[in-house]
Amino acid sequence: MQRRSRLTAVLSAGVLLAALGPATSVRADAPVSNRASLKQDLCYQIVTDRFFDGNTGNNNPTKSPGLYDSTKANWKLYWGGDFAGIQAKLAYLKNMGVTSIWISPHVDNIDKSAVYGGTANAGYHGYWARDFKKTEEHFGTLAEFDALIAAAHSNGIKVIMDWAPNHTSPANPADSTFAEAGALYDNGTFLGNYVSDPNGYFHHNGGITNWDDRYQTQYLNLADLADLEQQNATVNNLLKTDANYWMDRGVDGVRVDAVKHMTAGWQKSFADTVLSHKDTTLFGEWYLGSQSDPLYADNVRFANTSGISVLDFYMNIAMRNAFGSGGSMTALDAAITKTGQDYKYKENLITFIDNHDMSRFLTLNNNQSLLHQALAFMLTVRGTPCLYYGTEQYLHNDTSGGGDPWNRPMMPGFSETTTAYQVVKKLSALRQTNPALAWGTHQQRWMNNDVYIYERKFNNDVVLVAINKGASAANITGLNTALPAGTYSDQLTGTLGGGSLTVTSGSGGNNPANAFTLNAGNVAVWSYHPGEPSTPQIGSVGPTLTRAGNTITVEGRGFGASGTLKVGGVTASTTSWTANRIKATVPAGVAAGTASVTVTTSGGTSNGYDVINESAAQVPVTFTVTNASPTSVGDNIYLSGSVSELGNWSTNKSVAIGPMLAPNYPTWYVTASVPACTTIQFKFLKITSGGAVTWENGTNHSYTAPCSGTGSTTVGWQY
Ligand code: NOJ
Ligand code: NOJ
Ligand code: CA
Repeated sequence: MQRRSRLTAVLSAGVLLAALGPATSVRADAPVSNRASLKQDLCYQIVTDRFFDGNTGNNNPTKSPGLYDSTKANWKLYWGGDFAGIQAKLAYLKNMGVTSIWISPHVDNIDKSAVYGGTANAGYHGYWARDFKKTEEHFGTLAEFDALIAAAHSNGIKVIMDWAPNHTSPANPADSTFAEAGALYDNGTFLGNYVSDPNGYFHHNGGITNWDDRYQTQYLNLADLADLEQQNATVNNLLKTDANYWMDRGVDGVRVDAVKHMTAGWQKSFADTVLSHKDTTLFGEWYLGSQSDPLYADNVRFANTSGISVLDFYMNIAMRNAFGSGGSMTALDAAITKTGQDYKYKENLITFIDNHDMSRFLTLNNNQSLLHQALAFMLTVRGTPCLYYGTEQYLHNDTSGGGDPWNRPMMPGFSETTTAYQVVKKLSALRQTNPALAWGTHQQRWMNNDVYIYERKFNNDVVLVAINKGASAANITGLNTALPAGTYSDQLTGTLGGGSLTVTSGSGGNNPANAFTLNAGNVAVWSYHPGEPSTPQIGSVGPTLTRAGNTITVEGRGFGASGTLKVGGVTASTTSWTANRIKATVPAGVAAGTASVTVTTSGGTSNGYDVINESAAQVPVTFTVTNASPTSVGDNIYLSGSVSELGNWSTNKSVAIGPMLAPNYPTWYVTASVPACTTIQFKFLKITSGGAVTWENGTNHSYTAPCSGTGSTTVGWQY
């Protein structure tokens, strides 16, 4: 309740309702260390149905009988895994060093099957929701869901829910009897379906054919999945209210499904709703087909501005190439450099070797040594590592290339002695003790096609990693490191063949390491973690999207016992202060836009860490301009306006809102997240492929955003 009264002070009643939804019982904060950042975490991705059957009583529920296959012959039916099964295996996960579990969507999925080519397909994966406010009965009751969260928290494990607001379920517009026709329910009450949609809950534009087309990806169906219209007032409210309902039940973070397929504007307003309700973290699935995906820049912009980080597909491709397909370490290093330049919050990216939508690593290359190397890399490179369930048990099924559904076998066992399990356990422990891994810079120190030696560094904390994926031993000479002079033992204790390293003193942060041999397939990890520094050093601030009255968590070293925390130069009130973590309330009066967070103690002032300070609570508004200036191929229309959310009149195409969409050229539109209850001035502009900027003429357009819900405005281009 304390949280509500603080919010009340800064929000109007209407906005408060939009942000919080109807009254729900707000539960106590989870006893996990920091929900506002995953950077020190080891995440573990679970397909609930395929992990462990902890309650056979829910395998063939009366609500939706016949969707369970006890023989596990049909890979598209339920196989029995459930919330109770995950709960039963929490000790196994905790012992491996897992600190957060991302579970497949837990909400009620369709009760019928979708029959394709004569084969029944159930929503065992969770991505075919019918009711976002109920648990799926094959996974368990609400009480079992609550019990899983409580047990996870008592093991120090966060629970990240997979939230799929892009769509409901498979629908055939010509056949209302196919599957559940995309039906949407609100806590048990039927709202509508895709075949009969008088209220406009869905888009009716057919299925995506061009996955590189910005308009198609957002406004057409993902295959035959009934595509929700998030700007519909009912849909908008349901998706936000229900997400907050689960946050109130104790969920710690959100993985947002298919973020490439919804507008960035609606998603930023969604992030604001959740982040203003609870101290938490969001990351999205923006699938990249390749490193030259035409929508890569949109993906970067989304990650940098929406308050939702992304799963690191760019690095995933690089890791699979290097360790799985014989690619070079040089290319892997180039991927780190490239993403480091593009993503503003690169440490917030979620790194992964494989997931439920691609072949498992061992299908790609059935070589356990290379898998161990890839794991060591993933656990020591920037970003939060997310391990796909079963990888530590060498799980893979190579049928037809091992993609969906063959990448989702039943968990084969729970051995804690496999080498993979031990590698993960040792490096997760290091991640939690040496902040160089969570917050530090990345520097390539020695490299050829097979050998990669890199250093992570957070001020005086240093981790040096050496990997040789080649078939022959490498003689390492001329290696420099920031590790101070001394001898360092391998943090993997020789599990992957590493030995100790002796460093002598040099200058300028380049201390020569004695020559050594790194044998084929070996990995060594050396660490230096000195005591608290005298000057404060910020490593992380989360969430990165915030506003007055919201809580931010600042992590770093040398904060001492007290001091001053400022956001954009304005002193913030703090609610807790320890040497490594401060919680503060974002003060009023900070200029909207990028704001730097600093900590000052008697030892000095820290580095600044940027967050995005919103003008106010956010609502999604669709801006349409008709009869816009004629464009040639490659030219685009953008929106710019008087608030930071609309770029403060910027004509820079990574700041102004766009590119806008023109399926009905020359009408263009875009959904932007703007401050609620606020009058905004705006205009449209053309930016040609060559970068030439032309504003429309006339006076500024004016629009007052609603205090809650969604909005829209249509104007004609002024010639
Ligand atoms: C991406 C998910 O990861 C995938 O498994 C799912 O089928 C689609 N989104 C649609 O929800
Ligand atoms: C920025 C100005 O502040 C605004 O008033 C004007 O409409 C646009 N530039 C376009 O000229
Ligand atoms: Ca069901």
